[in-house]
This record gives sequence, C-alpha cells and structure tokens, in this order.
Amino acid sequence: MNIFINDRWQSKDYLAHYYSADKLVYDEVLIFKYIYHFLLRFKKNSFNDLLDFGSGPTIHRLIPFTDYINNMYVADYLPENLQEIKLWLSNKNNAHNWDKQIEDIVRIQYRNQMKSLNFLKEKVRAKKIILRSKVKNIIQCDAFSKKPFLGVNKKFDIVTSFYCLDSITESKVKWKKGTGNLLQLVKPGGWVIISALRNTSHYMVSNAIFPSPNINEKDFIKVFSRNKFNLKTINFKIISAKPWLDSGIKSLMILSAQKLK
Ligand SMILES: C[S@@+](CC[C@H](N)C(=O)[O-])C[C@H]1O[C@@H](n2cnc3c(N)ncnc32)[C@H](O)[C@@H]1O
Repeated sequence: MNIFINDRWQSKDYLAHYYSADKLVYDEVLIFKYIYHFLLRFKKNSFNDLLDFGSGPTIHRLIPFTDYINNMYVADYLPENLQEIKLWLSNKNNAHNWDKQIEDIVRIQYRNQMKSLNFLKEKVRAKKIILRSKVKNIIQCDAFSKKPFLGVNKKFDIVTSFYCLDSITESKVKWKKGTGNLLQLVKPGGWVIISALRNTSHYMVSNAIFPSPNINEKDFIKVFSRNKFNLKTINFKIISAKPWLDSGIKSLMILSAQKLK
C-alpha cells in the first residue's frame, strides 16, 4: 500500500515545514550550487525535455534549468501537490510564495554580477515568467508502476527527482524498483539528477512521520549499474542535514549520472 494515499500528507504543511523560511536553507544553497555547477558544461538551450519527478508542491528547483531546457514537465503522485503547482503557474493569490527562494537562487547564479536591488528584482521577475512559459504539462505519476505515467511513453533529456523515492517507502527493495522505473524515463545519453535523504529511516512533516529506506551512495551505484548508466559519470555530493536533525533527517546527498548512449 502506498502510504501517500492516506490523509497524512498535506501539501500546505509540507511547504510550511520545509519551504517557508524567508531565505534558502543552507542545504538548499548547496543543492543549487551543485545544479549550477552541473549545468556549466552545457550550452544554453541545449536540451529539449526535462522532467521533475515527484515534484510535490515545489517548483523552485526548475529555475536553474530554464536557460538550458525548452520544455519542462512536472509529475507527482498526489493531485493535491499538482494543484499547488497549478496555482503557482497561473499566478493565483493563494499560491505558495517562492519569491524569497527565487531571489536567493538568482543571487547564486549572478553572485559576481549583482549590481543593485533593481537588477535582482528584474531577474526574479524574468525567471518567474520564463518558468511559467516553459512548463508544458503537469502529470500524475506512480513510481511503483513499470510505466510511471500510466500509458504515456515519453523519455527525457534530463530527469530530476528531489527527495522522492527515498521519501515514500521504508523498503530498500521498493526503492530499487521505483528508482529503476524512474531511470527508464531518461533518454540514452541523457542525465539524471537526484537528491535524497541519506542513512535516514524517517522524516517529519509537521507532526506526521514518513519513512525513508536508509540508503546511501552504495545503493545508488548498484541501481545505476543495473540500469545502463555510465558509472564513470556518477558524481555525488554529501550534504549536512544539520537544519533538519529534529525532523529525523541524518544526512543528505545530491548526485548526477549519464545514461549510456
Ligand atoms: C518528500 S516529497 C518531495 C517533494 C519535492 N520534490 C521536494 O523536493 O520537496 C515526496 C513526494 O513523492 C510523492 N510520491 C508519493 N508516492 C509516489 C509515487 N508512488 N510515485 C511518485 N511520487 C510519489 C509525494 O506526493 C511527494 O510529493
């Protein structure tokens, strides 16, 4: 049974718990630095399609990719999360406000060129417009299904997945299967970027406890080797979870890898 079908998950509680500080939390700063560093090797607009799998109610991690990708797709299991995304995309008053996070993401991108407050405000405005124009579809998905989009057969140049498979099951067997299904969505020669809870058995959202399968780098290497990824391209960064120790999270990691061509 998927623990996410019961009522314990509330998108607004999740946003309040993890994404409501008025600046990016330290681990998020490192995640964005990692993404910008990953993207440096590519030319602008060099990819067609990106999928963010298990987006939850979040959109901010797509911001760095807007300069590199033509079409973006966002997928999650819960309609309630997808509804939050739709609110933001259509600029509704009751959407989550990502402006402070986007400001900090712009500061990371333009760290040496931040001339004035106006420059920052203008970049934030432009990023929001371009992100809204590039998201082409919002899709319901199920990582535990062999066809995670239940019928749609698309593959992507880049698949991102932030705290998804590691945050929806306590079973390493299910994590492996689900991650394998996710990796099938990457085109040959395409890339995956994943962030995950590391060596962690559970995490809190408000007062509710959710499971994590205690994974680390070794588990990813095994799963990448079974799913036709080039092991030489795997790049891990371990990130301290200090701000989240009280929420049960012991450590974090982000990684990228390229599928064989
Ligand atoms: C911890 S949240 C991560 C959300 C977001 N990516 C982030 O970084 O904050 C885990 C997400 O996995 C989604 N999820 C639960 N079961 C799933 C499934 N079977 N397939 C895909 N996503 C699922 C949940 O709805 C939730 O949005």
